[in-house]
This record gives sequence, structure tokens and C-alpha cells, in this order.
Amino acid sequence: VNPKPLEFADGVLRIVDQSKIPLAVEVVELRSWREVADAVAAMKIRGAPAIGIAGAYGVALAARCSARPKVANPGERSSPADFLAELQQAGDALAAVRPTAVNLSWAVSEMMDEARRRFEAGETPAMVVAALEAKARAIHDDDERTCRAIGAAGAALLPDAASVLTHCNTGDFATGGYGTALGIIRSAWHAGRLARVFVDETRPLLQGSRLTTFELQHDGIPFTLIADTMPAHFMARGDVDAVVVGADRIARNGDVANKIGTYALAILAKEHRIPFIVAAPRSTFDASIADGSAIIIEERDAREITHVAGVPVAAPGTRAANPAFDVTPARLIHAIVTEAGVLRAPYERSIPELMMRSPEREAAR
Ligand code: MRU
Repeated sequence: VNPKPLEFADGVLRIVDQSKIPLAVEVVELRSWREVADAVAAMKIRGAPAIGIAGAYGVALAARCSARPKVANPGERSSPADFLAELQQAGDALAAVRPTAVNLSWAVSEMMDEARRRFEAGETPAMVVAALEAKARAIHDDDERTCRAIGAAGAALLPDAASVLTHCNTGDFATGGYGTALGIIRSAWHAGRLARVFVDETRPLLQGSRLTTFELQHDGIPFTLIADTMPAHFMARGDVDAVVVGADRIARNGDVANKIGTYALAILAKEHRIPFIVAAPRSTFDASIADGSAIIIEERDAREITHVAGVPVAAPGTRAANPAFDVTPARLIHAIVTEAGVLRAPYERSIPELMMRSPEREAAR
């Protein structure tokens, strides 16, 4: 989409405010890690890989701030230990904003490792800042390459003239570009193998209806928007050949946390014998978690349920629950598509194998 959803130059992170789409395409400038954290909390940037990339730029912005002369005492600069402590504080605060998507804490820890390595090598704060900006850019660029690889591998799993159902938004807005589940849809379309896309509206924040339709329309891919209550109806009629979704965190056994409503789709897909496919980069796998029961589910403001676009849709004082994600058990998942290939059950075996393969070793193969 245009303008690019995320762009970093000269110490400014420019983002398209996703909370305004499709009413307005508004670019917001973020100049500090706190502004990045606020934008992530307000869902101006969302989607697991995209918030990882934003988190990486957030750490780079924190480093710029720590490297500046102190206002009270311009001669004084942070020592490497103080600098790292300030950075860690910013990184921890950024990672805590949205706890379910592991890409955010993954990107922050990649950035912290880089900062530590640079200081240990005796680099000056200015050199560390430059290295962190380059690292954040690399995380950003890698993500688009990753999505294209996921797209190609996943499209090959779909039948010809496929009619695919997707949930939430997993495209340009949610990633470094191209998308994960939406990358598969894009690749299938470019290969002439896609008939149409059913887009779930994705209550409560309507990422499907606001963002996915926006992207598909931009690309000229045929789609039909449906309410979250309609997939069973269309599956029963034989109108859906595959369900393709993204992921926010994948446990070692293949349990997948993704946007609330995903689990229900997986159950429906099983009942109707439709392949349920998950698309995610390696940065979405959490090797520290044995199964989905350990995944923290972000609980968001009840107002997102009781109000639509600021207008009340429930009796005054109504209490509402608002878990932003649910966990789909591995047994319901037909395949997990990554940039390093397609994983199949038993995931207890295929996931650790994937995690052991380093990108360097892949490149040498
Ligand atoms: O709450 P959101 O909009 O950040 O949730 C997004 C999703 O659940 C996506 O499916 C997931 O992050 C994968 S995006 C490639």
C-alpha cells in the first residue's frame, strides 16, 4: 500500500495510523520510544511482525536519546553501563505494551544483544546508535523477504482456483511488507490460482474489514467481506477451500495464538474438512513455551466491545470481556508455513527441527 506503513529516516519513524484506515490515510511521526510505545498501545501500528519492527526502531530511538548530551549538564554523557540500563528500561517498557505477539519481545532482545556486543567491542555511543539503526532496518527489510518466501511456499498448498477465507489483517500493514497469510493470498493470486477471498470483519477492531479489504482492493484481488458470524454458513455451502491465518506466538508443540476468533475458525474448518493453514515467520515461534497454555493473552479495554467507533452499542454500564487473542490447538492445524518451509504434524518434532536451522546454515545449503 501507499504510503509505506512504516518508514524510518533521520531519527523519525513515520507510520500510517492504522486506526484511521479506511476513513483517512494519515501519516504520524514518532520521535521517541515513548511515542512508539503509545502508537503500539493505541493500535496505530499492529500485527505481530510490524510491532516487532516498530519495537526495534523504538530501541534505536531510545539509544539516540541516551547518546545525546544531558540538558542539565551538556558535558556529561551516559556511561556504557548507564546507556545499556536506559536502553533496557525502554526495551522492557516497549515489550510490555502488547504481551502476546512474541515478535515484539524478540525484536527488542535482538536490539539489546546488538547494543551489548557493540559496547563490549569498545564502540562509542554514536557508533552504537548507528549500528542499532542499521539493525532495526535489517529486521524491517528481512521481514519483507521472509513474507515473500512464506507467500510462495504457502500458495503451493492451495488447490487451483482456490476460494480462501482469512481473518484479521496479515498484510502490508501487519508486516515489513507483502504479508504472511495475505502473502500466501497475494502469491496465489499472482500465480493465477486464486478465485476469491472471504474476509472476516474481525470484531471488535475490524482489522479485516478496515485493513484487509483496503489492501485487497489496492491489489485488485477479488474479495467478499463477511461478518464473523458467517464462516460456518459459507463453509457448509462448499464455498471455502482453505482457511489461511497469521500468528502472534507459536508454542513448541504447534499451538498457535492469533486474533480472537481464529480458534473457532479452526474448529469449523475441521468439521467441514477444510485445510486450516497458519503462516508465520520464525520470529513468531517461542521455543521457551511448551504449549499454548503458557501464552499470555492480552486483555484490552472493554470499550472496544461496548462501543463501535466511539458509539455505544450496549446498555450503559455493561461489563464486557475483551481477550484480543485465542489459542488454536496444534491438532487442528493442517500446516504451518514459514520462510524456511512448510511444517507438518507432529509439530513437537518439526518445530524444534526448524528452530535448530540457523539462517546462516540455510544460506549455505
Ligand atoms: O491485535 P492485532 O491486530 O495486532 O492482531 C493481529 C493478528 O492477530 C495477526 O493475525 C498476527 O499478528 C499476524 S500479522 C502477520
